[in-house]
Amino acid sequence: MSQRTHTCGELNKQHIGSQVRLQGWVGSRRDLGGLVFIGLRDRYGVTQLMINPDTLSEEYKQCVSSLRYEFVIDVTGIVHARPAGQENNSMNTGDIEVHISEMNILNVSQPMPFLIEDDVDASEELRLKYRYLDLRRPVLQSILALRHDVCMGIREYLSQQQFLEIETPMLNKSTPEGARDYLVPSRIHKGQFYALPQSPQMFKQLLMMGGMDRYFQIVKCFRDEDLRADRQPEFTQLDVEMSFADQMAVISMMNGLMGYLFQKIWNHSISQPIEQMTYAEAMQRYGSDKPDRRIPWELLDLSDVFKESSFQAFANIVNNHGMVKALNVGEQKLSRKDIADLETIAKTYGAKGLAWVKISDEKWSGPIAKFLSDIECQTIQTATQAKIGDLIFFVADTPNVVNHALGHLRVILGKQLGMIDDDQLDIFWITEFPLMEYNAEDDRYYSLHHPFTAPHPEDVHLLDTRPDQVRSLAYDLIVNGNELGGGSIRIHDTQLQKKIFSALGISTDDARDKFGFFLDALTYGAPPHGGVAFGLDRMVMLFAKVHSIRDVIAFPKTTSASDLMAESPSSVASMQLDELGLMLKPSCDVDE
Ligand code: AMO
Ligand code: AMP
Repeated sequence: MSQRTHTCGELNKQHIGSQVRLQGWVGSRRDLGGLVFIGLRDRYGVTQLMINPDTLSEEYKQCVSSLRYEFVIDVTGIVHARPAGQENNSMNTGDIEVHISEMNILNVSQPMPFLIEDDVDASEELRLKYRYLDLRRPVLQSILALRHDVCMGIREYLSQQQFLEIETPMLNKSTPEGARDYLVPSRIHKGQFYALPQSPQMFKQLLMMGGMDRYFQIVKCFRDEDLRADRQPEFTQLDVEMSFADQMAVISMMNGLMGYLFQKIWNHSISQPIEQMTYAEAMQRYGSDKPDRRIPWELLDLSDVFKESSFQAFANIVNNHGMVKALNVGEQKLSRKDIADLETIAKTYGAKGLAWVKISDEKWSGPIAKFLSDIECQTIQTATQAKIGDLIFFVADTPNVVNHALGHLRVILGKQLGMIDDDQLDIFWITEFPLMEYNAEDDRYYSLHHPFTAPHPEDVHLLDTRPDQVRSLAYDLIVNGNELGGGSIRIHDTQLQKKIFSALGISTDDARDKFGFFLDALTYGAPPHGGVAFGLDRMVMLFAKVHSIRDVIAFPKTTSASDLMAESPSSVASMQLDELGLMLKPSCDVDE
């Protein structure tokens, strides 16, 4: 036998009496009454080894005394039942231990920068610097195994549904997702650049025009944007596109996929079809296009109450195209300081203030209580279904600011007060997004999704006159308050595509320059098509129930887009720049 006979997660009562050979890392070591106990670890688990040095040859004895954490060893021995009372039910191998007769050290290790254990207390920085050691922790190994299972599930389901996995290029022309591109200078074409894909959007549409009918790809995407807990500069999408499909067909197919994955990964049936809610309803009720409905509070439009109010500040706003919304958060013990902090938060989202009242059977308290007439109080209490002791917040402003501020406040306070049950699953589609939104700074409209998204057929007539009121055939899948994926039905008609570019203020020349090949392709019998892309990393976060995207990626970047292990990005030799025909501005250093 030169190979291991078993892994470290495999042996149980059935193997008692067999001779086995194991290889792995020394995860723990205890010396008890002349005996040495080793926890031998590999990806599959931990097996307890019992060594009685007195029974070993001199050579093996020396091995045992020199063993340290994370040495890699090769042992042979006989499987025994653990002594009664010493079984460990939390381990697969908890009923047995292996009594060792031979041992070899395959490799030694320096002292560890941190201990390899699930509840590691080392900083994330240190763990990222030594990511290959961090990856030895069972928790990360099981998340990466789960990630593999999710990818397998995706491939199984979509292959059964006739989808083909097709690769698309990484060195591209800029794509229209709207974040900043990562650029790659060309050596052969000096002064010219490729862009790394923000998504394979145009290519997957071109695959439909190429007659591939159903495509998917598990693909790296690159976006140079500000990072957060659920964003990485390079991340993975499950990218999907279907020909001859309307919105219902894409959504149904993805409902099937999600059902398949929940069953496979969690052994859990989600109720089908997955619910849908329009964007307008989500904004009205939750002030957000990705609401977490596990928080029970909803926003309520009270503009009518304040229209005629003697509380001038609010009345003026309502009468000048603004609105007032309320958020009843129930009976909560918040101090004035807590509320002042919430006001500061509301202001970061553009609100001018955060008004509140506390309902009482006598005079209500709160800074705006004195401005409210008895009738107004009654209407507010009825509308918000408030009980004595409830706390109600108000924001008055433009609809955008009101929704933005109260929508965020709802989530922040909900989380702060522990309103979210982590075991509950809230999954639904948001549909009928606006096609474009106006940006006052640039005085132009931008696509909410991307410029190839089809307008809602009922709203096409508004494109010239009220572009902000045009709904689109775009949809997002929201899970527990996060955008898991998004997609749309695409424009397959050249004239309509031109019309959209013009509404977006993209000139014909600009459109030709950026997307000329794509516009040409539309003129050669492009089939109707649509698709969607999911954040695969976010999907794995959901299934693994972790909150940081870095926990589901083998080699992630920090929030400042650095790789602490390889120390990238890094400067390059000036010869490399010369070859590319590039010169750095004096403020940027180059290593010789
Ligand atoms: P979108 O830009 O909405 O759509 O991206 C799709 C999904 O990708 C995930 N995602 C990210 N995940 C981690 N880090 C990031 N920086 C990041 N950015 C996006 C999100 C998001 O829902 N081509 C279109 C899809 C289509 O129309 O078919 C697209 O890329 O989960
Ligand atoms: P003032 O009369 O400006 O002192 O405001 C009285 C209360 O109303 C304070 O608690 C302010 O935070 C709040 N407030 C003022 N303007 C707004 C607004 N636009 N929306 C919500 N609350 C506001």
